[in-house]
Amino acid sequence: MKKHTYLVLGLLGFAALLTSCGNGNQGKGSSGALNSSNAEKVYVAPGEHDEFYAFMSGGYSGNLTVYGLPSGRMFKEIPVFSQFATSGYGYSEETKPMLNTSFGFVPWDDSHHPDISQTNGVLDGRWIFINGNNTPRIARISLTTFETEEIIEVPNSAGNHSSSFITENTEYVVAGTRFSVPVPQADMPIKEYKGNFKGALSFISVDPEHGHMDIKFQILMPGFNYDLSHPGRGKSHGWFFFTTYNTEEANSLLEVNASQNDKDFIAAINWKKIEEYVNNGGGTKMPTNYAHNVYDEHTHTATSVMRKEVLTVDPTKVPGAVFFLPTPKSPHGCDVDPSGEYIIGNGKLSADLTVHSFDKMIAAIEGKKFDGEAYGIPILKFEDVLAGTVKSGGLGPLHTEFDGEGNAYTTFFISSEVVMWKLGTWEVIDRKPTYYSVGHLMIPGGNSRKPFGKYVVAMNKITKDRYLPTGPELEHSAQLYDISGGKMELIYDFPTHGEPHYAAGIPAEILAPKSQKIYKLAENKHPYATLSAADARVVRDGKDVHIYMSTIRSHFTPDNIEGVKVGDKVYFHITNQEQDFDVPHGFAVIGANTSELLVMPGQTKTIIWEPKQVGVWPFYCTDFCSALHQEMQGYVRVSPANSNIELSWSLGD
Ligand code: CUA
Repeated sequence: MKKHTYLVLGLLGFAALLTSCGNGNQGKGSSGALNSSNAEKVYVAPGEHDEFYAFMSGGYSGNLTVYGLPSGRMFKEIPVFSQFATSGYGYSEETKPMLNTSFGFVPWDDSHHPDISQTNGVLDGRWIFINGNNTPRIARISLTTFETEEIIEVPNSAGNHSSSFITENTEYVVAGTRFSVPVPQADMPIKEYKGNFKGALSFISVDPEHGHMDIKFQILMPGFNYDLSHPGRGKSHGWFFFTTYNTEEANSLLEVNASQNDKDFIAAINWKKIEEYVNNGGGTKMPTNYAHNVYDEHTHTATSVMRKEVLTVDPTKVPGAVFFLPTPKSPHGCDVDPSGEYIIGNGKLSADLTVHSFDKMIAAIEGKKFDGEAYGIPILKFEDVLAGTVKSGGLGPLHTEFDGEGNAYTTFFISSEVVMWKLGTWEVIDRKPTYYSVGHLMIPGGNSRKPFGKYVVAMNKITKDRYLPTGPELEHSAQLYDISGGKMELIYDFPTHGEPHYAAGIPAEILAPKSQKIYKLAENKHPYATLSAADARVVRDGKDVHIYMSTIRSHFTPDNIEGVKVGDKVYFHITNQEQDFDVPHGFAVIGANTSELLVMPGQTKTIIWEPKQVGVWPFYCTDFCSALHQEMQGYVRVSPANSNIELSWSLGD
């Protein structure tokens, strides 16, 4: 135990040394990125568009941010798991159900790994998926509206980290648990973890037409930590690979106790075999409780349904479906090359990268060459499945992406660098420092059959001294490397929002032409829509007052409302009647215990206002929509609870 303690402390010390020496490099070290040809490479002239979209996870912001590459300009923050006052997501009545869970309303999460939908292993640009790590959830975001359309909770899971990766025809989005837990949850001593806790790997089917998600099955694996995963592709399509750590099944002081085994495992899952097994009636239905939230683009409203059952699979009941590949030193990243042959497991306490061969794995399975078993799951021999080792010269390898030209790029957290190496020969071709402590990296399509290998983006955890200081809290940094010349060249730095764990990139030409510009008013099926100003009205139902309000530049209809009383619950249902691109209207009312609304053309959104004080209270448009935006305002008269003032409304009288 002592030896490992020293190893860990030693690595941390080395990391501190490397990150602190950056201060002295300021100016000198970056001069290479300041020459004019590099400036031209990232310069996107005013009015010009970027070549790629990059979707960066927001980490503890809970959201997803959209950037352009190579410019590093941020285009949008897409609210996913967190309330977002800028648009009213999670505050408006229509979107609150998106954040419903079995724990009630959860207005935040930790979003980690976005993945774009694929067809035949190639990015198709229909949807992007992302995981909520803390209260396990998977979200699906439309890449035509750039809005979150669906969130499904994942039961029997905790620390939903080896997620949300998709199979090569988007048959499944996969969610793996980082923390093993009692399944079903139970009141039991923590010390009884070993042998009793389970790790659920969830395969969530995706409807090929609408994208709707449904948990097809959960594999209840031994109680290890399932860290990251990627699908097989090409010849390995039908398999999914997960790294594990803590195969020691320690429940305390994991930094020491989970570093005992020289090798942990990559779990290889033949999901086609398990799919066949469950399609033939296999598996056990387990009672559970999880939320499934769907946003309807026509009613502009989300609904949340609690699901009560999940199909679980005991992997030992499906022979030939699950195997363990020994992989050194608590592997973190688990990446599959574009051909589907190589599975890379990066031991985060190691210097070397382990590359497994899919063909060798299949041969070893067929030859039944096992090296024992763990909880009934066969362990393959390390030497039998090893394709090669990359002697990197770095320390702390984490994640690998591919350029489609036979090269792989691996990040090294401890030695703060990206190392470029060749698949098959395992030779290191190039290495470039990052500033500092890089986690994931991203090449557009870099985890598909067809990468677009022009740029690699490094996502760094530590930013100090790269930008003007902003007090103790700094945004994280991304760094852009040009890889089009067969080597890596650092060409740009830009800040990112939250903690971008992973990112997914796609050529702009795939998404931009189909990006939605407005919602058609004629297709608005919101039950409280006001489709023409003539339909604007105020309706009392007991203490509930429903205001059917429409907006058009530059007024609300109605803009004077009387007859509201203290103790009422007032619903402002705002319909934006604009049908032009980029003309939202906002709505805010004094004292509302929620956010504003930002209503897109053709859309209806609702805010609840509970007036507590008698008076005449203004509301106004929050989005600078025209030269007369400041005139876009109105008043609500609030009378005492026992008042008999009749409800009335008007515009222009
Ligand atoms: Cu509408 Cu400002």
